[in-house]
Amino acid sequence: MKILIIGSGGREHTLAHILKKSKHLKQLFVAPGNAGTQILGTNIDINISDFEAIKQAVLQHKINMLIVGPEDPLVNGIHDFFLADAQLQNVSVIGPQKLAAQLEGSKEFAKEFMMRHNIPTAKYQSFTAKTLTEGFAFLESLKPPYVLKADGLAAGKGVVILNNLKEAKAELNAMLTHQKFGKASTKVVIEEFLDGIEMSCFVLTDGKNYVNLPNAKDYKRIGEGDKGLNTGGMGAISPVPFAEGKFLAKIQERIVKPTMSGLQKDNISFVGFVFIGLIKVNDDPFVIEYNVRLGDPETEVVLPRIKSDLGVLFKAVADKKLDTFNLEIDEQSATTVMLVSGGYPEAYEKGKTIKGLDKIEDSLVFHAGTKSNNDKIITNGGRVLVVTSFGKDFKEALKTSYKNIEKIHFDKMNYRKDIGFDL
Ligand code: AMP
Ligand code: GLY
Repeated sequence: MKILIIGSGGREHTLAHILKKSKHLKQLFVAPGNAGTQILGTNIDINISDFEAIKQAVLQHKINMLIVGPEDPLVNGIHDFFLADAQLQNVSVIGPQKLAAQLEGSKEFAKEFMMRHNIPTAKYQSFTAKTLTEGFAFLESLKPPYVLKADGLAAGKGVVILNNLKEAKAELNAMLTHQKFGKASTKVVIEEFLDGIEMSCFVLTDGKNYVNLPNAKDYKRIGEGDKGLNTGGMGAISPVPFAEGKFLAKIQERIVKPTMSGLQKDNISFVGFVFIGLIKVNDDPFVIEYNVRLGDPETEVVLPRIKSDLGVLFKAVADKKLDTFNLEIDEQSATTVMLVSGGYPEAYEKGKTIKGLDKIEDSLVFHAGTKSNNDKIITNGGRVLVVTSFGKDFKEALKTSYKNIEKIHFDKMNYRKDIGFDL
């Protein structure tokens, strides 16, 4: 197969790194990619929102399979675009169509789906500018903290949690009447606060059958002890130590199975990854959110633990034959630690020279925001590199990542030294 991966982060570099070993791979392309993917295949410099440009690249390089990394093109209907075009109909797309992508693209759609299928989640109501007064009344009926969610995609920034009722009302007003998150906050979901520990499950489905992939836990805040601003993710571990026994069985029975059968019942065609963000409250799992893609940096620990050939797995998805696929998972733990630019997730500088990558021995280094500049690799984003290691448990794996990070350098490099601190 000739495969084109859409995206440019650590998730896409990991996909490229693992697909490179597949017996089904003939040629690999990444659009737009980064300095890491450039070594593995051909980077194509196109804007991932430009479906017409993606089409031209697919036709020019005779691509057979498109793997979509980030959510935006999915929510904007890239899969539907391929299905509707006679020249692209034979290209397999890994990633759901627009309707299914609403599970991530609209918090209200996801909530209504969960209600319909009795999937445990926080109680909620949704509001628009017209129902602002009702929104205030609903806030008054809740106990703090208050959870306000912009309905649409807001680059991971659309969830605001506040302790104070006055601030929560002001925030609701800012979202609804002052469009704080643009069109994404035309509608706002207000929900009950759930107190517990978070983790994520990953399912890969061909639309009929599905397989459970390794679970993971990511660390979203910039500061140690989970303090400070939210980021795209500062590190991850897989498997999640507390996801075992009865709790794991509850996740399957109460969440994964009804989610997959709910898609069938609602006639929502879903081909690709379902990423279920969960919270464990006492001993029970509740869904915090659905995403319709792999997580980043969760991918950097989930995919390296898959022992089966990833190209064969994706081919089984395209052929709707996942029921005959025997997925093999590595028992070892994997951890990953993100190296970020100083200042991130607020303003930061780019273009810093990265040194030490040639000295890494027993870790995998994936590029998240890099580019090549003559014979140098320079920083090109907030999240720059991510260092994945294996071990008999997550602590052993982390030691290896931290040991190798000492060998890497760029100006104002920052990372969290406490990944897994809460386990
Ligand atoms: P989301 O974008 O929906 O994943 O929300 C971002 C983050 O907000 C989650 O990872 C949680 O840490 C937090 N969060 C979202 N909803 C709730 C809730 N109902 N109760 C507590 N925390 C929440
Ligand atoms: N790491 C969280 C995400 O990919 O959404």
